[in-house]
Amino acid sequence: MPEKLLTRYIHEPDQADITTYIRRGGYEAARRALRELTPEQIIEMVDQAGLRGRGGAGFPTGRKWRFVPKHAPVKYVVVNADEGEPGTFKDRTLMERDPHQLLEGIILASYAIGAHKAFIYLRGEFYGARRQLQRAIAQATERGFLGRNIFGSDFSLDVVLHTGAGAYIAGEETALLESLEGKRAMPRLKPPYFPAVMGLYSQPTALNNVETLCHVTQIVRHGPEWYKEQGPPVLFSVSGHVARPGLYELPLGIPLRELIFSHAGGIRGGRRFKACFPGGSSSMLLVEEHLDVPMDYESLARVGSMLGSGAVIVMDETTCMVKVIARAVEFYRDESCGKCTPCREGTVWLSQIFDRILQGRGRREDLDLLESIARNMTGTCFCPLGESVPPSLRASLLYFHDEYEAHIRTGRCNVLQPV
Ligand SMILES: Cc1cc2nc3c(=O)[nH]c(=O)nc-3n(C[C@H](O)[C@H](O)[C@H](O)COP(=O)(O)O)c2cc1C
Ligand code: SF4
Repeated sequence: MPEKLLTRYIHEPDQADITTYIRRGGYEAARRALRELTPEQIIEMVDQAGLRGRGGAGFPTGRKWRFVPKHAPVKYVVVNADEGEPGTFKDRTLMERDPHQLLEGIILASYAIGAHKAFIYLRGEFYGARRQLQRAIAQATERGFLGRNIFGSDFSLDVVLHTGAGAYIAGEETALLESLEGKRAMPRLKPPYFPAVMGLYSQPTALNNVETLCHVTQIVRHGPEWYKEQGPPVLFSVSGHVARPGLYELPLGIPLRELIFSHAGGIRGGRRFKACFPGGSSSMLLVEEHLDVPMDYESLARVGSMLGSGAVIVMDETTCMVKVIARAVEFYRDESCGKCTPCREGTVWLSQIFDRILQGRGRREDLDLLESIARNMTGTCFCPLGESVPPSLRASLLYFHDEYEAHIRTGRCNVLQPV
């Protein structure tokens, strides 16, 4: 089994303290990089490691950094620490347990693109992470690892911690930048507002997820070759009806079956697996026939789903799939920012139909109506929030049609309930 890199010390109670972090080799990568490596060499290492963003979209990190114009006078690094995807809890864990690993990644990213100011946009509800990050920033500044001429080099960097106000859409990168600028979190039009060229305050901005930047620390610390030999590693937040829910650091491409049945202890109470979201509620629902799919970007895309943020939400045979999709639709309805019609109206209509079905007033034609609204939302929404509703809805209509029919026919749920 490959070594754990990102989560190696998360169970050690003192890892969040800078003294312990340094004793375990922390900040050596940043110190060495600033003395011995050029920014281009760091980007090269990240490229060689094949790192892809862990915020959901899976975009190659090195390539994203290369889009940032080299000679722009002002550039920023922005860390997406909003972690709002249902089922995801990896970034919070990394920030609460090992905040210096993230700060070291921020230093490396800032040096690589030539930014002297970095912002962490933290989900407002993460009080524990906030406390740890505040302490970590203060400790790193006191040691001269942040601020002016860090590690005695001619490179300076300030890190600002900013807390959000609890909107899922603020995790979308351009909406996040709007919010950071003090405006309402609504996505910007791309092009022209690709953050790498026109980001925060219209300046070039490298915007990355917390886990992505922790990978950067490990890549520069151990070298891209060794890092790749360890998997490369990915964090999976496994929740739902498994015997051992939790955070698992495992090699990219591990089969879904192995993740659920070997690592997460299988389905609790010896029940049968029914379905799962492999990458948060925005990824398309998978069923039993998909259990052997490797958990990597390409394989999951081939079956119509995605790795997303690696949040595997598992459901057993006692789960009513109509209720699951109704709850997901309700979430996207509440979190829709209202900017575009298909998402704003579509999610409300879907929700009304689900309410009708679940209250025993469903009509046969409701199933065609659900399908038609899902079709009309596909490819017409302004941002991926609205686009993430139709795939799972359509998959549930395909794989669990009998459950919808039974709800409409009998006016109640017919799924075996747990005893
Ligand atoms: C509705 C929505 C919510 C998102 N929420 C998050 C989030 O909470 N954290 C995150 O890192 N990325 C989130 N993303 C993805 C970001 O837009 C962006 O792709 C990511 O932060 C880029 O970082 P990466 O390249 O390191 O993955 C979200 C995207 C959408 C469409
Ligand atoms: S898809 Fe939804 S969240 Fe995205 S811009 Fe449109 S209304 Fe806003």
